[in-house]
Amino acid sequence: MKFFVDTAEVEAIAELNDLGMVDGVTTNPSLIMKSGRDIKEVTKEICDMIDGPVSAETVALDAEGMIAEGRELAKIADNIAIKVPLTWDGLKACKVLSDEGRMVNVTLCFSANQALLAAKAGATFISPFIGRLDDLAIDGMELIAEIRAIYDNYDFSTEILAASIRSINHMKEAALIGADVATAPPGVIKAMAGHALTDKGLDAFMKDWAKTGQKIL
Ligand code: G3P
Repeated sequence: MKFFVDTAEVEAIAELNDLGMVDGVTTNPSLIMKSGRDIKEVTKEICDMIDGPVSAETVALDAEGMIAEGRELAKIADNIAIKVPLTWDGLKACKVLSDEGRMVNVTLCFSANQALLAAKAGATFISPFIGRLDDLAIDGMELIAEIRAIYDNYDFSTEILAASIRSINHMKEAALIGADVATAPPGVIKAMAGHALTDKGLDAFMKDWAKTGQKIL
């Protein structure tokens, strides 16, 4: 499973990238707002740092506007994936932009039928939002499983980009189901390294080592 980082915080991306953990980056208008940065400036900085796709989201609500904004965002760098919402106009924009050979990430997906339409419209990525379904007591992971089954039934090349990931359990479940990509906040990716038994075991090793009075260096 590829790891995308869901943030517009450049330092956090750089830290994970240095460890080889970053296959791409996703941003959205809320994340740009949180960063306090200019969208083009910060997106360019991220694109220069990351080899993989960097999603930048359009904000127009009509297809023509999305297409124009998408073309403008795509000028930032070759690795821009244009993000459009899963509305009828978003699907129209997806078709036009993907026919132009551009990467398109169709976002705000909450049903398998929406994901099927995005694949038909040529989406490079479909972004089902797990956490926001869980918030409504609907199993977000079930949606990932449904989309996986449908895409596999018909060999769609659209990649399932599990989004709105809130926990390390989401990461594990997405990987088990076979999501192509998971996009997660940096804190969730870093939390995957943690385990109480690792801490406990390390503590015991350190105490025993101190008793030996030895040094390695
Ligand atoms: O990738 C979409 C993501 O940013 C949404 O996450 O936690 O706001 O539902 P969240």
